[in-house]
Amino acid sequence: MTAKRRLHGALAGALAAAQLACIGLAAPGAAWAQQAGGLAATPQMGWNSWNKFACNIDEKLIRETADAMVKLGLKDVGYQYINIDDCWHGSRDADGNMRPDPQRFPSGMKALADYVHARGLKLGIYSDVGATTCGGRPGSRGHEYQDARSYAAWGIDYVKYDWCDSKGLNAVGAYTTMRDAIKASGRPMLLSICEWGENKPWEWAQDVGQSWRTTGDIYPCWDCEMNHGSWSALGVLRILDKQAGLRKYAGPGHWNDMDMLEVGMGMTEDEDRAHFSLWAMLNSPLILGNDLRSMPAPVQGIIGRREVIAINQDPLGVQALRFYNQGQVELWAKPLAGDEWAVMILNRGEAPLPYRWDWKQHRISDDLSKREVDFNKDTWRWQDAWTGKRGDTDKRLDVTVPAHGVVLLRLKKA
Ligand code: GLA
Repeated sequence: MTAKRRLHGALAGALAAAQLACIGLAAPGAAWAQQAGGLAATPQMGWNSWNKFACNIDEKLIRETADAMVKLGLKDVGYQYINIDDCWHGSRDADGNMRPDPQRFPSGMKALADYVHARGLKLGIYSDVGATTCGGRPGSRGHEYQDARSYAAWGIDYVKYDWCDSKGLNAVGAYTTMRDAIKASGRPMLLSICEWGENKPWEWAQDVGQSWRTTGDIYPCWDCEMNHGSWSALGVLRILDKQAGLRKYAGPGHWNDMDMLEVGMGMTEDEDRAHFSLWAMLNSPLILGNDLRSMPAPVQGIIGRREVIAINQDPLGVQALRFYNQGQVELWAKPLAGDEWAVMILNRGEAPLPYRWDWKQHRISDDLSKREVDFNKDTWRWQDAWTGKRGDTDKRLDVTVPAHGVVLLRLKKA
């Protein structure tokens, strides 16, 4: 995706340094890191306008989405952020202050933030490291401190910061500048790094943002790539397979972001359940991407499933590991707080799969969390996170894993 998107480059690193020098700021200290980390002690949950609406957004949509979030009980299960993606922008005023599109956001961002806050939710906004966003709107380049100040004044809680028009920019510098700008604004705002994994943000972004995208954009399909010419959007399995080796970089306050959810956007129910389960198991932020104002009951059932959300929001914050795979089947395990585990069987294949699993034949061992389970030593009780069905590990598991689907179990020592 680089060629198309990195339109022009050069001076921003220098600009950023000059801006910093002018304002006389030191790098953020431990106290800030702690405060900022507290913003995403567990992966952030919310909604974002892009996947469904792209540039077709306005304040009415944002208000109605906030209302739906509360009315449907999604706020009660943990969704918190209402995030406006690209294309909210109007133009800068004579002093360079960014203003929202006066036709689409006539009441202004402060009024919108007040509306969202009054419902106990938080408001997110979008910008870009370049002079131009991916949607061709004004980016923050050279205006980082000014934009962060505007966001703070409006009452924004979350900044998604994109990577278009970034040619010649140093990613560490560009994202660190926005982090420092947010800090200087005095308002804690979650920084969601959207750099598509091009500069390995997992290696440097722990103290920069609360999450970083690991891949290019998602597409609502199981295992396809949607070709856009210079870049392609990725289906669920394509994104999953790009997470190999990344789990050790994530933890409370800094998450691998597998991109926004496509639940309710055209895949089958089994695919949607698997997609949601995978994002939960891998501790990805859960940012809904469908139209919350009108959604079929099964979709609501998936995104509202407390038992699955609890796996994503587990306070231990350890991403799942793949501990077994054979053909189209993968087994994933996630250590949970309180000596519990989640175990997921993934069927990547085209046909429903009758599957038997003898717990006692397979020890689970995780070098990262130093946790281990030997089913020969103890009996564990499991409960299916989707169906509620129960069993224990003394008996062989006997299940049918749907095509393009999962079985997701939560285990507790008996
Ligand atoms: C990029 C991002 C997307 C979205 C669009 C908006 O493609 O990766 O998530 O924000 O830009 O233009």
